[in-house]
Amino acid sequence: MPDAAASPFAGRRVVLGVSGGIAAYKAVILCRLMMDAGAHVVPVMTAAAQRFVGRATFDALASERVQTSIFGEDDPIPHTTLGQTADVVVVAPATARVIGSYAAGISDGLLTAALLATRAPVVVCPAMHTEMWEHPAVQHNIEVLTGRGVHMVVPEAGRLAGGDIGTGRLAEPATIFEAVSEVFAALPERDPAHEPAPARRDFVGVRVTVTAGGTREAIDPVRFIGNRSSGKQGYAIATAARDRGAEVTLVTSAPLPPPEGVREVRVESAAEMEAATGEHADADVVIMAAAVADFRPAEVAPQKIKKGNPAERAEAPVIVLEHTHDILAGLGAAKPPGQVLVGFAAETADVLDNAVAKLARKNLDVMVANDVSAAGAGFAHDTNIVTILLADGTVRPLPICSKREVADAVLDTVAELRQ
Ligand code: CTP
Repeated sequence: MPDAAASPFAGRRVVLGVSGGIAAYKAVILCRLMMDAGAHVVPVMTAAAQRFVGRATFDALASERVQTSIFGEDDPIPHTTLGQTADVVVVAPATARVIGSYAAGISDGLLTAALLATRAPVVVCPAMHTEMWEHPAVQHNIEVLTGRGVHMVVPEAGRLAGGDIGTGRLAEPATIFEAVSEVFAALPERDPAHEPAPARRDFVGVRVTVTAGGTREAIDPVRFIGNRSSGKQGYAIATAARDRGAEVTLVTSAPLPPPEGVREVRVESAAEMEAATGEHADADVVIMAAAVADFRPAEVAPQKIKKGNPAERAEAPVIVLEHTHDILAGLGAAKPPGQVLVGFAAETADVLDNAVAKLARKNLDVMVANDVSAAGAGFAHDTNIVTILLADGTVRPLPICSKREVADAVLDTVAELRQ
């Protein structure tokens, strides 16, 4: 294994783009070499690449989980983040299509978008059949890219897909590794202020149940009483817990696609959320980020309620409400030993006092007090302003930060309590 501390890869952030070719398996070895040399490797796979190598392989090996979509789960602009934070982008194998798109400035997926969004050095490692490699269109694109300063690790001669022999085989991982080392050697020293945070895998083997979204309480088959919760904070927690190695169940009423690798249980009403959460309440950590309705119509009309004719003085209906169950209080009353139970307090006034009272009343370990009326906080925003409260009286105010950062801070507190 290379000496990671002395290596030019140490602390460097490498975006490893893998496009669809039989040589995608060699990218696994390259990923491993760079990780062993101390790099922080962020894998990006095209859809075609996933037909050759399963994403689980890179998920397990790399510093971060594989990214595949331009529509990020908790990052609305993953291609820009990838491009801006990379110290180098390596594409291995690079297909004729990826090379062509990159040369033409076409962003037709996350990888090509990240290539166009980066100012970091780029190392392209083509792999394709000899006829394709020698085609004037491909050679022209290679020239265009080389002329723009892109580093090329040219393909080697050897056995190709289907058993043909010729030029086009992806260079060996060790050769690519050397080429990337040389690129780093030519770079200025890395500014430690911009070091990426080390990937934390402190929730491996931990079962985490998270609830998210606002519940909907039916009035009749077409109407409901809802609330303004977007579910984004709960999704950020589920994603962060997953990234840190947890086995995550997300009980959700939010209209958002589930984070990959998370078990999703879809619910709508408070009663459904109570039943689903109850089924997954034996987890090591339960985080109740959902905005559960406190009241619901006492009766649900079986047919759509007709408005009648107001001109004939038809009366507007009166909807009688009844209390729902407090799911979190129920979980707190039956909390198994060792479990960490976390609640969120959505408040608009007397935030800390109300949150502290709820923490005690519901028998929680952690309460995240959320002033949902503050600018840049609460529903539908991508940022939040919270204070983390512990049962022992500890108060941890956080500055305004992204929902992902809030998620990680909450998980840091949970990890601390679990020790
Ligand atoms: N909660 C719950 N079941 C409910 C209502 C709330 O499990 N029926 C949970 C929420 O998911 C949250 C916590 O309790 O984690 C606090 O929710 P919040 O709406 O802030 O407080 P309430 O307990 O509903 O009290 P109030 O409405 O008086 O503020």
